[in-house]
Amino acid sequence: MVEAVEDMKGVILAGGSGTRLKPLTTVTSKQLLPVYDHPMIYYPLMTLIGAGIRDILVITAPEHADDYYAYLGNGKDFGVRFSYAIQKKPAGLSQALGMAKRFVGKDSVTMILGDNIFGGSVAPWIRTFNGGAMIFVKKVRDPGRFGVVELGQSGSVRSIEEKPKHPKSHFAQTGLYVYDNSVFSRIATLKPSARGELEITDLNNLYLVDGALRGVILQGEWIDAGTFDALLKANQLIARQRKKFPTRR
Ligand code: TTP
Repeated sequence: MVEAVEDMKGVILAGGSGTRLKPLTTVTSKQLLPVYDHPMIYYPLMTLIGAGIRDILVITAPEHADDYYAYLGNGKDFGVRFSYAIQKKPAGLSQALGMAKRFVGKDSVTMILGDNIFGGSVAPWIRTFNGGAMIFVKKVRDPGRFGVVELGQSGSVRSIEEKPKHPKSHFAQTGLYVYDNSVFSRIATLKPSARGELEITDLNNLYLVDGALRGVILQGEWIDAGTFDALLKANQLIARQRKKFPTRR
């Protein structure tokens, strides 16, 4: 196991309503759906654990909290510590992260979405994080479906736009974010968007205007498994990897 990273907590989001995956999500939570031989959440958890994060808060919707606990328990089987928080309503990624304030204490925090599967390692970036905020972007063919990130000089971020009609780049924002401890005072200033959520892009823009937001271009595969086609692709990716690296879970 990789050495623990000091002063960094993990948060994994496993709430949400999963409407695009109904009726699968009528009977269970999206992040517990099978991706080859594990529940989906296993993969983003491995991304956190593989970076050396040992203290992880799992945020779930009320109706599925028991199922997550049945699978993950206190973390002993994974060599880490899991804590749990219940998000009553899917009020946005920033609202969910705000619930982690006490858990994070004085540390920094890496947040990952429970439906995001990363093929490559992001450990070097998380382990050397030294303040501000860091987002991870991936070149895609259809950026207009995502948060689109325009990068500036040496890893700075010039703009982020949600699902723009005229994307300024081919870089989609992925569901992995690293923040310093100022994130909680910044979340406290956010106002709900038109759809009634505290938006992650609004939070990231607060770092951007301070010149404190960095963007990292991912080389490995990335899948947001929130649609039927993407879920199928995720299954195929993991099945392929198993055949290539049979001993790697
Ligand atoms: P989304 O895929 O944006 O939303 P969703 O999961 O509700 O799905 P759909 O759009 O099909 O209804 O959410 C991204 C991830 O973040 C997903 O893993 C669920 C999680 N999430 C929360 O935990 N709390 C929230 O308030 C929101 C909005 C999402």
